[in-house]
Amino acid sequence: MVRALLCCLLIGALLAPNPFADRRTADRVRPGSLPVETVLGWLANQNVHEPFVPASFVGLPSDLSAFLPADRPLTQAKVELGRQLFFDKRLSRHGQSSCATCHDPEFGWSGGRDVPLGRRPGHPGLDAPALVNLLLEESPEHPLEARTLEALTSPTEMYAHLPHIIERLQNVEGYRLQFAAIFGVPIDVDSISSALSAFQRTLLSGGSPNDYEVAALAFDDPAELVGHPGAIRHMNEVLDERERHRMSPQAEVGRALFQGQAGCTQCHSGVDLSDGLSHNTGIGWNAGIAGAEPDAEDSATGKYRTPSLRNVAATAPYMHDGSLTSLEDVIDYYDAGGRTHPELSEHLKPLGLDAQDKAALLAFLREGLAGKSATTDLPRLP
Ligand code: HEC
Ligand code: HEC
Repeated sequence: MVRALLCCLLIGALLAPNPFADRRTADRVRPGSLPVETVLGWLANQNVHEPFVPASFVGLPSDLSAFLPADRPLTQAKVELGRQLFFDKRLSRHGQSSCATCHDPEFGWSGGRDVPLGRRPGHPGLDAPALVNLLLEESPEHPLEARTLEALTSPTEMYAHLPHIIERLQNVEGYRLQFAAIFGVPIDVDSISSALSAFQRTLLSGGSPNDYEVAALAFDDPAELVGHPGAIRHMNEVLDERERHRMSPQAEVGRALFQGQAGCTQCHSGVDLSDGLSHNTGIGWNAGIAGAEPDAEDSATGKYRTPSLRNVAATAPYMHDGSLTSLEDVIDYYDAGGRTHPELSEHLKPLGLDAQDKAALLAFLREGLAGKSATTDLPRLP
């Protein structure tokens, strides 16, 4: 029975023009559902044009203003326009996918169930990474606008022909009105990527049990605070919060393994549990098949950037190619020391974890790293 069903699904997928049709969050958003009068009413409210700084979460820097580009402040109107564009399939070449098709809110803004098919012959499917806390990684040399422009044109993402996209948006009155009111210029590449980036800067996540644990570490030595009643009060608040968000004892064991015997923090460290560097973990490597890694940031060495592990339970499948389907598989993979590869990172070695250790590590990944995220309703589109 199960096999028969699978068979039907496969045939269905082959016949359907769009393999993702109506299975993803993005497919629930339809153009034309936002009336022009609503857009006009919204734009007439001065408050939506005032700059704002998004609220932070425990675990992230408490004041995010330093992470926002001074010359491109966030406003509610800009973020709302970016949200519409993010979910709008009219931004892709053939109108079949929006950013949210691959960066699906239901899967922590990552690829989710299926790994999108490669858009070029011989190009393996890639699992889209979770778009969270991107503003913490930005720098003046690598603004989010530049990466967003790449997403619009890349053959593995939207593959858009920019002049066509601009023309399509120009033809939609609700968009014309918003771009004019927010940017004061005709719709162009800069204003599109600026609105999309504004929205993505609000995709924040923090407040996991692990974050509360880390926050409490600052008070390792309460003796230092004697004579500073304000600081002691603050310490007590932080420690209370930790108690209220404590992970299970099993996950705490997993946390110790993550940092110790399992060696995960060698690469998964910092605010988002990523060192921001690229490593070869043996993924995507098929011994003997030359050029098996066309997507590696450095294809000679098969290195990929360490991803964030925030809310990792929601972002299956795993690794850039989605080749590991569950966190159990990921743990087994690391426990075996990765895969033989001439360039394998020296940090990967067989770990000798027993069943209990693996269960604890899994509990930490699931519970300890599950945080709160800025939520967003699905937009209506002009
Ligand atoms: C067909 C699937 C697909 C679509 C559609 C798509 N992306 Fe992506 N995106 C990916 C993949 C795969 C990667 C990772 C590969 C890479 O970095 O080259 C990625 C990476 C990114 C990154 C870098 C994330 C990081 O942590 O460095 C950003 C930002 C991004 N996409 C934004 C967007 C935006 C904005 C859109 C819509 C304009 C979009 N993507 C549409 C698949 C997609
Ligand atoms: C040598 C550095 C390194 C070490 C050590 C390491 N990782 Fe990773 N991790 C990476 C890189 C790089 C990737 C991305 C690989 C890819 O995309 O092909 C990754 C991917 C992952 C993913 C998939 C995330 C996703 O969204 O796809 C998980 C889960 C993960 N690691 C957990 C762990 C755990 C648990 C440990 C300890 C047992 C660990 N890692 C040790 C570098 C490392």
